[in-house]
Amino acid sequence: MPQAEVSPNQGKLLALLCQMAGAKRVLEFGTLAGYSTVWLARAGGDQGRVTSLELEEHNADIARANLEQAAVADRVDVIVGPAAASARQLVKDGVEPYDFVFIDAYKPSNPEYLKLSLALTRPGSVIVIDNVVRNGAVTDRQL
Ligand SMILES: C[S@@+](CC[C@H](N)C(=O)[O-])C[C@H]1O[C@@H](n2cnc3c(N)ncnc32)[C@H](O)[C@@H]1O
Repeated sequence: MPQAEVSPNQGKLLALLCQMAGAKRVLEFGTLAGYSTVWLARAGGDQGRVTSLELEEHNADIARANLEQAAVADRVDVIVGPAAASARQLVKDGVEPYDFVFIDAYKPSNPEYLKLSLALTRPGSVIVIDNVVRNGAVTDRQL
């Protein structure tokens, strides 16, 4: 697997933010092997539910195995496909609003993921987007 997962302290921060928000319904863009997903699933406790969107079937399979090992597989639904399309389907399905969203998939699609996240949340929900600082490059003039 590519080493693109959040670091342990970032995972813990995600869990802390979830707990501070009292989040029970979590949406994640970008599952990879399920590392951040495990943090999010554990943060919500028994009543927590995570929907995680992943492009690659292979990654989703590994994530499901890891979620099983972490004993949180029953709290997580991994949906395979382009995350924007999967999220659009969730909007169409009229799912209950999510309390917490973690965006960490295909970076150029972040604006679209954010727009979809706003349609899938409620006032007071928390949306976290990874990698927006880009080692400070966001302040570079050419950006
Ligand atoms: C940075 S990794 C996710 C890491 C994971 N959140 C963690 O911290 O453990 C990004 C993931 O997004 C997936 N991805 C890339 N393009 C995607 C797309 N268009 N839709 C859904 N997932 C995508 C990649 O396959 C990869 O698994």
